[in-house]
Amino acid sequence: MGLKIGAIASGGGSNLQSILEACKDGRIDGEVLVVLSDNPQAYALERAKKAGVPTAVVELNRDGSREDHDIKVVAALKEYGVDTVVLAGYMLMVTKVLLDAFPDRVINIHPALLPSFPGLHVQQAAIDYGAKFSGCTVHFVDEDMDSGPIIIQAVVPILDDDTAETLGGRILKEEHRIYPQALQYLAEGRLKIVGRRVLLDPASPGSGTLHNPSVSF
Ligand code: GRF
Repeated sequence: MGLKIGAIASGGGSNLQSILEACKDGRIDGEVLVVLSDNPQAYALERAKKAGVPTAVVELNRDGSREDHDIKVVAALKEYGVDTVVLAGYMLMVTKVLLDAFPDRVINIHPALLPSFPGLHVQQAAIDYGAKFSGCTVHFVDEDMDSGPIIIQAVVPILDDDTAETLGGRILKEEHRIYPQALQYLAEGRLKIVGRRVLLDPASPGSGTLHNPSVSF
């Protein structure tokens, strides 16, 4: 078996769905062994159940530390033999406890072109800034927010009449492509972290320069 994935999601789980499907049809050499959430109402848990994947809920104890929380998360993931942790719309920051338990094996997706627009509400932030492109980023997770080494990015244009919803939808479509792809690169052992850079071996550079608006000469 390839990657032994534990997915952590707080919400709808459309990225989880894309990963479940890619594992099933062989685009990812791996299997989702458990889906964990801090939110018992997360629709991601329903998606897991429909796919026949075990679920676990570790709710945040407001009196406990974030490290205590991650000790429970790690225990739940280890129980299922997970070796790769995929954050898919997880709304809590992870701590060193989780990162040390899965070194260079915790991955996240963010709906903007990092390092621009980390944090929340980033589709609106990119529109308000006047950026002409946004996109999404799959990256290894470190102790800071949305900051670890970048594996793959997809770029989408920001259109004049975009709302956070229309832009978010365009970005999400690409998220569902690049997250499975990043995981397959990992499964193939092709990702090499060199400082802040993630090199793909053998290389497979993306195509072309983009302009928005278009350039006619
Ligand atoms: C996505 O936009 C992802 O980039 C961000 O949280 C959102 C999760 O969406 N980290 P979903 O739950 O996968 O549909």
